[in-house]
Amino acid sequence: MKTLIIYVSIHHGNTEKIARAITKVLNADITNLSKVKANILNQYDLIGFGSGIYYGKHSGELLNFIDSLNNQKGKMAFVFSTSGIGIIPIINDFNKFLRKGLLQKGFKIIGEFDCRGWDTYPLIVKPFGGISKGRPNKKDIESAKRFATHLKNTLIF
Ligand SMILES: Cc1cc2nc3c(=O)[nH]c(=O)nc-3n(C[C@H](O)[C@H](O)[C@H](O)COP(=O)(O)O)c2cc1C
Repeated sequence: MKTLIIYVSIHHGNTEKIARAITKVLNADITNLSKVKANILNQYDLIGFGSGIYYGKHSGELLNFIDSLNNQKGKMAFVFSTSGIGIIPIINDFNKFLRKGLLQKGFKIIGEFDCRGWDTYPLIVKPFGGISKGRPNKKDIESAKRFATHLKNTLIF
């Protein structure tokens, strides 16, 4: 199964660490969104989309990119993110906008992963070294790898 990981990671490279861990397990190709041409998706069976969470959602560039695509007719996708406070069930659903965008374009979403990422954006936390310092950590990377292994085991690679 040919897999491509597309990521945006502009704050501290947190999401890139997760993207690379997943890439390794899935033996995927990986690219920063800034280098992607829309028709490259045709060459892949499974696409992973991920970024940091900025103002409650995935990167605007990533959401716009998905918006610009043709209907993908059931192509498989998964989503991932890192964020300062992390996804708290019922309270915040940072994946909501990306999920909606992908479904509108006909993707079939087969998995979602998130973890915390070092965040120095809020001015109030800056003097203390930010929040979620050191994340993603070893445990987060292991979780990301387990997520990818699960995908691998449920699909034919
Ligand atoms: C402009 C900006 C807005 C952010 N907004 C949020 C937010 O709404 N919720 C949150 O939990 N973290 C927020 N963060 C923290 C990032 O989601 C977190 O640091 C993430 O791991 C960054 O990933 P990256 O290093 O791959 O860019 C924000 C960070 C920046 C720079």
